[in-house]
Amino acid sequence: MEIIICKTKEEASRKAADLVTALVKSNPKAVLGLATGSTPVEMYKCLIADNKAKKVSFKGVRSWNLDEYWGLPPTHDQSYRYFMDENLFDSIDIVKKNTHVLNGLAKDWKKEVASYEAAIKKAGGIDLQVLGIGSDGHIAFNEPGSSLASRTRIVSLTPQTIKDNARFFKKAADVPRQALSMGVGSIMEAKRIVLLAFGANKADAVKGMVEGGVSQFCTASALQMHQDAWVFCDAAAASKLKLKKYYAWRGDEALKAELAD
Ligand code: PGA
Repeated sequence: MEIIICKTKEEASRKAADLVTALVKSNPKAVLGLATGSTPVEMYKCLIADNKAKKVSFKGVRSWNLDEYWGLPPTHDQSYRYFMDENLFDSIDIVKKNTHVLNGLAKDWKKEVASYEAAIKKAGGIDLQVLGIGSDGHIAFNEPGSSLASRTRIVSLTPQTIKDNARFFKKAADVPRQALSMGVGSIMEAKRIVLLAFGANKADAVKGMVEGGVSQFCTASALQMHQDAWVFCDAAAASKLKLKKYYAWRGDEALKAELAD
């Protein structure tokens, strides 16, 4: 795991976007795994800027998102399909039919998740997966207690996640209690992982992910077992890491080398 520690989330987002842009330039048909939430918004702004500046084109890219609230239609302003259109897809040259988000209104969720996983497999798997991290250490909606081998399925949100996400809804009671989510095992199959974490309220989760034991109690800790995981933090999110100076130095060197290739 390489950890890039920047002063601000803007700086960290720019560096993470550099990895994504470099991948799509070298493989214009790349398969991206995308995330929602407040965390990746700044990185998506950087990708939009790169696309507008003609540094990169997303015309050949296919994407699959991590999760979707169960019961929300794609037209709901808090659905993750709506979020992706608003924050990325409508502002870049990606072909909309090549973007995939789980259907929160599927009649049969088992069929929905099976065909979602099959489609990713048919596309050759995810080349680069973007992730945020929940304050309880979750990735996608893999809450504490999710098997580290879990696959895409229906999940129940913890009271903490409902509380965290209530800021996007009128009231906490409006936050859906369930979601369809890629599993930890599904996420781990991505060839490269780019996880973003910003703010002091993520410091415990980042500490657990990087320096805690591998445990289903902090599902992000599974990334310790991934061969190509990159974590981009601001100073506040990295503040509880014991070896943060070492990680920062090593991470900067690794990123420089990666982008020079
Ligand atoms: P946030 O959520 O980006 O809105 O903080 C992150 C997550 O729950 O994965």
